[in-house]
Amino acid sequence: MLVLKNEVVLNDKKFKILIYPEQIQEAVDKIAKQINHDYKDKKPVFIVTLKGAIIFAVDLLKKIQIDCEIETIRAKSYGSGMVSGGSVLISQMTGNIAGKDVIIVEDIVDTGLTVFQLRRELELYKPNSIRVATFLLKPSMISNPVEIDYVGIEIPPDFVVGYGLDYAELGRNLPAVYVLKE
Ligand code: PRP
Repeated sequence: MLVLKNEVVLNDKKFKILIYPEQIQEAVDKIAKQINHDYKDKKPVFIVTLKGAIIFAVDLLKKIQIDCEIETIRAKSYGSGMVSGGSVLISQMTGNIAGKDVIIVEDIVDTGLTVFQLRRELELYKPNSIRVATFLLKPSMISNPVEIDYVGIEIPPDFVVGYGLDYAELGRNLPAVYVLKE
């Protein structure tokens, strides 16, 4: 049996547990339920933002009970160390979304820059609609005019890892969300 760690060390940093797997699943269930309801007469295309959203997307998509398509896009923001922001490189978009109802799947909305730029980029492909589903949201950090349609859990503006989120590429595989220990 897997034992959940209360604390983890990634490279030089210590992290303590913030969100337990049960809470994560509740948040995923909530979003899946909302999307199943809102899109019951549609066939949305989920665009999973690599790499952070992989784990959330897998859990969420297994709970989507309407017909849907799945595509991916790479979005990499270049901040300094643990600080998000700066600029976002968007690449490797798969599939054709013209005329379709798009749902962007994100692991976290921090400053909102990635979602802001993703929306702008995806609009160029002429989808019918674009909505955003994010597992985590840092409301106090948002500094870009973005609309987030589905939010799993709101968190304080602290650095977090796990469930897809990384610290220097480590920690994405952790089954819970951990926050940096002071
Ligand atoms: C993270 C995360 C979001 C973005 C959120 O991605 O997955 O896409 O930052 O930050 P923002 O709201 O301030 O733009 P990152 O660029 O670290 O790439 P990754 O998904 O490969 O970890």
